[in-house]
Amino acid sequence: MKCRRCRQPAVIDLRRHNAAFCSDCFLHHCREQVRRAISEFSMFGPEDRILVAVSGGKDSLALWHLLRELGYSADGLYIGLGIGGYSEESEIRTRAFADDHGLTLRVISLPEDHGYDVETAAQRTRRAPCGACGLSKRHLFNRAALDGGYDVVATGHNLDDEAAVLLGNVLHWEPGYLGRQYPVLPATEGFARKVKPLVRLGEREMAAYCVLLGIEYQVEECPMAEGNRHLGYKEVLNDLEARSPGSKAAFLASFFSRGHEFFRDAAGGEQEALHGCVECGSPTTGEVCAFCALRARVVGDTPVTIGRKD
Ligand code: AMP
Ligand code: FES
Ligand code: ZN
Repeated sequence: MKCRRCRQPAVIDLRRHNAAFCSDCFLHHCREQVRRAISEFSMFGPEDRILVAVSGGKDSLALWHLLRELGYSADGLYIGLGIGGYSEESEIRTRAFADDHGLTLRVISLPEDHGYDVETAAQRTRRAPCGACGLSKRHLFNRAALDGGYDVVATGHNLDDEAAVLLGNVLHWEPGYLGRQYPVLPATEGFARKVKPLVRLGEREMAAYCVLLGIEYQVEECPMAEGNRHLGYKEVLNDLEARSPGSKAAFLASFFSRGHEFFRDAAGGEQEALHGCVECGSPTTGEVCAFCALRARVVGDTPVTIGRKD
C-alpha cells in the first residue's frame, strides 16, 4: 500500500477517499480537511478569538492541535463534570496537553463552581445523564465565551458524531433540530458563534491523528453514555459505510448543501420571544434559563423535567 501523495509506504487506508497516506501526508490531509471546513462554512478568520471546548478525548485535543497548526489562536475550556475517575483522567489529559504545548486552558468545575455533578442531576431529573450533561455544557461553553470576550466556540464533533445526530433527527423528522444542525451557528443576542471544524473528518482519522503525533487522550468512553441512542445510530451507519464506502460522508455533506436550507426557518422561530434569565442573564423564553432551573432543582430538592440533548 503506497501513499497517494508521495508514493512512500502508507500507514493508513481511507476507503471513503479511495486513498492511503504515509504519516506526513495523512497529517497534511487532516489539516486540509479542517482548512476546507473552516473556509466552506466561513467559520472564523485569523483575527477571531477562538475558545475550544476540550474534553480530553481524541477529537477535541486533535482539534486544538489542528487549529494551532493552521495558525489560529485558540484557548481551551475544560468542564469538570464530576463523573468520578473518568472526569479525573479527562482533566489530567487536557491539562497535560495544554502544558506540553504552552496553551491557555480555562477550567470550570460543575461540582465546585455550581454545586452538582452529572449523576446527581440525572437522578433528580429522572432523565438520561446526557440530557443534564449536554444542557450544562452548552450553557457553560456559551457563558465562558461571552464572559471571556471570545468570538467563537469550537467543539470537536466529528463526521461520525454529526452523521449519527442527523440520522436521529431524520428518523424523528425534527424540523427544529434539523434547522439547528449545521457546522456553524451564527452569534445572536446572548449567544456566541458555534462551530464544528471536524465535520469532514471521521472518528478513526482523529484517533490516528493523535496516535501519530503522540497526543495522549482519554480513551474511555463516558460511563454514563451507555444505552445512548446515538451509539446505535453510529453502528448502523458503520454497517452502511462498510457496504458502501463514502455513504456516511455523502449523507452528511448532502444534508448541509441541499437539505438544511429547508429547515433553517424552523430553527429561528424562538428568537423573538427571548429575554434575560433573572438569575444569570442568559437568553431564555421563561423567567429563568434551563441551566439555572436545573441547578436550582438539583441543588434543591424538587424533580424537574428537562429537554433532550440535540
Ligand atoms: P460529546 O458531547 O461528549 O460527544 O463531546 C462533543 C464535544 O463537546 C467534544 O469534542 C468537546 O469539544 C466538547 N466537550 C465534551 N465534553 C467536554 C468537557 N467536559 N469539557 C469541555 N468540552 C467538552
Ligand atoms: Fe456527559 Fe457523559 S460526558 S453524560
Ligand atoms: Zn440562567
